[in-house]
Amino acid sequence: MPRKIVAGNWKMNGTKAALKELLTISIAADDLDCTAILCPPATLLQQAAQSTRSVAIGGQNCHHGVTGAYTGDISAEMLADINAQYVIVGHSERRKNYAETDVIVQAKALAALRAGITPIICIGESLAQRESGQAISIVSSQLAASLPAEAQIVIAYEPIWAIGTGIVPNLEQITGMHDALRKLLVGTYGTQGNYISILYGGSVKPSNAQEIFAVTNVNGALVGGASLKATDFIPIMQALSES
Ligand code: 13P
Repeated sequence: MPRKIVAGNWKMNGTKAALKELLTISIAADDLDCTAILCPPATLLQQAAQSTRSVAIGGQNCHHGVTGAYTGDISAEMLADINAQYVIVGHSERRKNYAETDVIVQAKALAALRAGITPIICIGESLAQRESGQAISIVSSQLAASLPAEAQIVIAYEPIWAIGTGIVPNLEQITGMHDALRKLLVGTYGTQGNYISILYGGSVKPSNAQEIFAVTNVNGALVGGASLKATDFIPIMQALSES
């Protein structure tokens, strides 16, 4: 079975005061049967990594290079240096706002593996692509083009129209997509593809987590808004642990 993983993406939210949420989350994570990851903004990464062992820490992005004249960027090696174990690559907000292509996302995934950390590779379709019936084929090609050669990765399927909107695809849509992604991973990596965790992301909340986690080939969640508060994130972690 793939590992059950719940990851919180804080995006551009949180100052030092938010670390108390992380501490509360880490106490709850101690007793659970799943991997919990938090990806705070870069300014909090080091303190976050120092203050918890039961929650793994991840970056929200990395550059593909090791060092160099890339103002404002952070390399995967720098993330590894402060004990981050994961990094999100190819989030739709970065694909859209910073024109990150599949080629760039793949380079970032390779950089993470080079630095010894696990990339969480994000893919997802727009509403127009979903409505035109092309979601599975578009997301599959996006994933195929973003994959590194090694299977030490996590996948997050995040339909763009479900991010921050409160709208969640129906269970049939989630099932169809996750089954297709599993098939693609097995086709690419052989049996190893069965062990890669495929997370669902987009408006996951305590109220819908349980039914989403019951879907075959959903191995956890990438959570945005509901990861900012321990009172929202802990029940999501619990739902995954009990699934
Ligand atoms: P929301 O959970 O706020 O919809 O965000 C999902 C997301 O983009 C996580 O990366």
